[in-house]
Amino acid sequence: MRHPKQAKQLVDRFGRTVDYVRISITDRCDFRCVYCMSEEMVFLPREQILSLEEIYLLAQCFTELGVNKIRITGGEPLVRRNALDLLKKIGGLPLLDELVMTTNGSQLVTTAEQLKQARVSRLNISLDTLDAKKFKELTRTGELSVVLEGIQAAIKAGFKQIKLNAVILKNRNDNEVVDLVKFALNSGIDISFIEEMPLGVISSHNRAEAYYSSDQIKADLEAQFTLEKISETTAGPSDYYRIRGTQTKVGFISPHSHNFCSTCNRVRLTAEGRLLLCLGNEHSIDLKAVMRAHPNDTDKIKQAIIDAMELKPEQHKFDLSEQPIIMRHMSSTGG
Ligand code: GTP
Ligand code: 5AD
Ligand code: SF4
Repeated sequence: MRHPKQAKQLVDRFGRTVDYVRISITDRCDFRCVYCMSEEMVFLPREQILSLEEIYLLAQCFTELGVNKIRITGGEPLVRRNALDLLKKIGGLPLLDELVMTTNGSQLVTTAEQLKQARVSRLNISLDTLDAKKFKELTRTGELSVVLEGIQAAIKAGFKQIKLNAVILKNRNDNEVVDLVKFALNSGIDISFIEEMPLGVISSHNRAEAYYSSDQIKADLEAQFTLEKISETTAGPSDYYRIRGTQTKVGFISPHSHNFCSTCNRVRLTAEGRLLLCLGNEHSIDLKAVMRAHPNDTDKIKQAIIDAMELKPEQHKFDLSEQPIIMRHMSSTGG
């Protein structure tokens, strides 16, 4: 029998209810995508990151406060040892409606089936290009063929939804948006296009020069496809359309050109146990410190989470023309 729904206890100063937590289980990754990381990265020492048991306890606390959706992110979540065991445990939390994951696809050939069994219902898989050489340039260390095989393995495993994520950079992969949509169409899956966000200092390109807006991508696509607006939302940043006559949805994540903060329903837990209240701001509390000061005292932990809602900022403000204000790289939150 299903558990009765838990009352939603996480509400911020602006009346937004938080019922979705994105948990980064590692800041490490086997790729070094140019928009996400600098070439040389220093990762957190192991003792600073939450143990799998601690992550599970926090996930449980969140669900008891009304969270019904958890997204597992990284870095690349599947490079963390025993990630699958953790996913299995979180997938079994009685109050959770949806366990989902964002991945770079590099490990899916061997893990897709197990992820499905762990009750991961939907996967977001990064794919910025279909050109192997460009893929290597953009990820610095990735192999396109491995990721394409991983996507096939995920399709075969039968997830409820698979969505590709493509970060589009002017003069690097903007000429591929139509081909990427055709790939999604032929594979029977969805795709989102993302405007690059200025998180952390990167070395490979100037972010203002590489800006390619969602409106431009949409115009490029409309030359080939008919996009029909759909009302469906995850209360998230994506604006969704359906390609007429197909099941494929195309999303646009436009942190610069369209603001979506007023409906924000999410907070993030970093691998080192910081509860981050907004991707584009530094407001946070040190949940690891609370938990380690009061081991297994879930009332204390839950109260700290409830109190933290006071800190959630109204909105993000990104400025591509200046040095990033947020020094953390996207890899420490998984987006
Ligand atoms: P849902 O969170 O389930 O709606 O899926 P998603 O598409 O948002 O998640 P995913 O992990 O695939 O992230 C796709 C892109 O959306 C990444 O670049 C994220 O950084 C970005 N994103 C997700 N949530 C937020 C948010 O609250 N604010 C901003 N600015 N970007 C976000
Ligand atoms: N801006 C926008 N999206 C980014 N991602 C990583 N770094 C950035 C950035 N600076 C994307 C990844 C992944 C998702 C979680 O976030 O490509 O698909
Ligand atoms: Fe790794 Fe994802 Fe960052 Fe690429 S975007 S380096 S795959 S965490």
